[in-house]
Amino acid sequence: MKKIAIVCSVLLSHLIVAQVPVYKNKTAPVEKRISDLLSKMTIEEKILQLNQYTFGINNNPNNIGPEVKGLPAGIGSLIYFSADPVLRNTIQKKAMEETRLGIPILFGFDVIHGFRTVYPISIAQACSWNPELVKLNCSEAARESVLSGVDWTFSPMIDVARDPRWGRVSEGYGEDPYVNAVFGVASVKGYQGKKLSDPFSIAACLKHFVGYGMSEGGRDYRFSDVSAQSLWETYLPPYQACIDAGAATVMSGFNDISGVPATANHYTLTEILKKRWKFNGFVVSDWNAVKQLVWQGVAKDEKEAGQKAFMAGVEMDMKDNIYFEHFAALIAEKKIPMSAINDAVSRVLRVKFNLGLFDNPYTEIVEEQSRYLQARSKELATNLAEESMVLLKNKSNTLPFNSNVKKIALIGPMAKDKENIIGAWSFNGKSKDAESLFEGIQKEFKNVTINYAVGCDFDGTNESGFAEAVAKAKESDIIVLCLGEKKTWSGENASRSTIALPEIQEKLVEELKKTGKPIVLVLSNGRPLELVRLEPLVDAIVEIWQPGVAGGTPLAGILSGRINPSAKLAITFPLTTGQIPTYYSIRQSARPFDKQGDYQDISTEPLYWFGHGLSYTKYDYSPIKLSATKINKNQKIMVEVSVANTGKVDGKETVFWYVSDPVASISRPIKELKFFEKKEIKSGKKIIYTFQIEPMRDLSFTDAIGKRLFESGDFYLYVNDQKVKFEVTE
Ligand code: BGC
Repeated sequence: MKKIAIVCSVLLSHLIVAQVPVYKNKTAPVEKRISDLLSKMTIEEKILQLNQYTFGINNNPNNIGPEVKGLPAGIGSLIYFSADPVLRNTIQKKAMEETRLGIPILFGFDVIHGFRTVYPISIAQACSWNPELVKLNCSEAARESVLSGVDWTFSPMIDVARDPRWGRVSEGYGEDPYVNAVFGVASVKGYQGKKLSDPFSIAACLKHFVGYGMSEGGRDYRFSDVSAQSLWETYLPPYQACIDAGAATVMSGFNDISGVPATANHYTLTEILKKRWKFNGFVVSDWNAVKQLVWQGVAKDEKEAGQKAFMAGVEMDMKDNIYFEHFAALIAEKKIPMSAINDAVSRVLRVKFNLGLFDNPYTEIVEEQSRYLQARSKELATNLAEESMVLLKNKSNTLPFNSNVKKIALIGPMAKDKENIIGAWSFNGKSKDAESLFEGIQKEFKNVTINYAVGCDFDGTNESGFAEAVAKAKESDIIVLCLGEKKTWSGENASRSTIALPEIQEKLVEELKKTGKPIVLVLSNGRPLELVRLEPLVDAIVEIWQPGVAGGTPLAGILSGRINPSAKLAITFPLTTGQIPTYYSIRQSARPFDKQGDYQDISTEPLYWFGHGLSYTKYDYSPIKLSATKINKNQKIMVEVSVANTGKVDGKETVFWYVSDPVASISRPIKELKFFEKKEIKSGKKIIYTFQIEPMRDLSFTDAIGKRLFESGDFYLYVNDQKVKFEVTE
């Protein structure tokens, strides 16, 4: 009897399983679920999966477009400008219940440096040299995003950028490919968690593939002349590292790659990304990037633009509706093969399956107080801001303040600002959540009088506030002058012909200098600035970038000495705009002697190199030790340096390991960063930093078609101000 019952129940469960299509079976392998679903889809359903719509008010000022009404239920993705999880669930319900197959929508959004808890901008994050912290802030940002209904962020931006006139330098990790790779990987891991299907994971999107940082003259959306050598050597490596780390999606750029737009570039999108690197996620176009192929002069109309973008390897059309409108015809005309459509749809579905959207399509509704700005997120924002503020200058130990400082003149348009300090691309950030510099300083210096005056606006010509600022300065022991850029001056479509601050701000510095009081210049901006005129007038400079919601307390801690600054620049500050581009990994000059080829009118040295950043303590580096000075290419050299903190305060020091290859068939940069590490060193203690030189990884280089070459010979290792030679044979 018992046996019969068991047989019946097994049969029943088989029957139930048989009724559930494979693609809906949680336990079936993802690839099986994809092919099952694909076999059931009509052409129309497939095409819809390749379209991304927008919904609600697009508050990206560059992208203002008509609100999309009556969203088709079967769309592939939606840019979700709302932060309301209930609304998401309503839209998702339509997709799940009103379509034939119930394919969930993928909700994407620009979560760039935080969702509601806004962290420092990416260029600042890189100056922390603390990828672990960056990973943590991205995972917190992912949690806030998930709870708001977002599954996918258009981040990280890993475009190597060497022209600070380009506003988007603020969105990436600076001038070096390796640094972009390390921080890109950290953010991918932070967003995506251990696996995409974890409850608080979101999919990352690497952007803007590729070479966008090369925009000519720093002008956005323009031509970028990327040589094949630079493509492989400078622009592709961060992408390759992030693909290897499992990034789920990629966004194609607005730029041309030497005449072939990034969005119609079969070589980069298909041959490199998909064939060589075996990327199995999908590529989304940037906003309007498909349509732009017409404006860029490579397609005669939108239909041809759609065909070119798709056949080059762009699977999803962001917002243009071109795929939706023209693909049925293009397929019928055999201009797009069904096999390519099937591959593209599989890629989109793969991300959805991997995210677990088929099994858990809805957002859990959690009350708003538990969604955002949790103690842990704010603590991370504070830590990251502390570690990303760079002490650029500190003449005669102006900082930290000593006990003679009883009255501070706190001056400048940035002092009480809460709007600009959070930076661009912080759509859900609210200025009311931000702590101003004034608030932070007031909290830190309880027994000090703060004499505040705005002095001037960010730009314009109104000098009427100068007199009050000067009067306040005269009454005080020291001036803390908070200047910088509005948030709209960097980010997308925010190119500037000069990277100097507007004249009115420079004039304010000159007026205050006349008081004879020491000046601490605090700068909040999204790009390196031209400080050639200001630097000589001030005693100390703290670059705080756009620190997000928690800027005041970290800055105040640096001023008081509670925090010992540990940030270093991830991007060079040129002396003047005319020096652009200036970056540390330049190639050797043909006449590297007698200052030949230098500028005649100014120094050729930038004001602050990549890696510059001061501290309140002193670090003494011991001589570098190498485990061997001659090896063959399959061996390794262990190198170590011990760093002693000989000052009075604890600190965190980042050691940078550079190599150089003085003779090669393709001339190499004068030095290249291969590894960095930041460690805490207590006052009076020393710490050993180590690095392992692996010739095939660290000393090989790529040619213009991406082939890695290793050439034996002498090499140099650079650490701090030391340089040692070693030899590697075949
Ligand atoms: C930007 C992208 C962004 C997209 C979606 C575009 O204008 O270039 O970086 O992710 O808009 O908002």
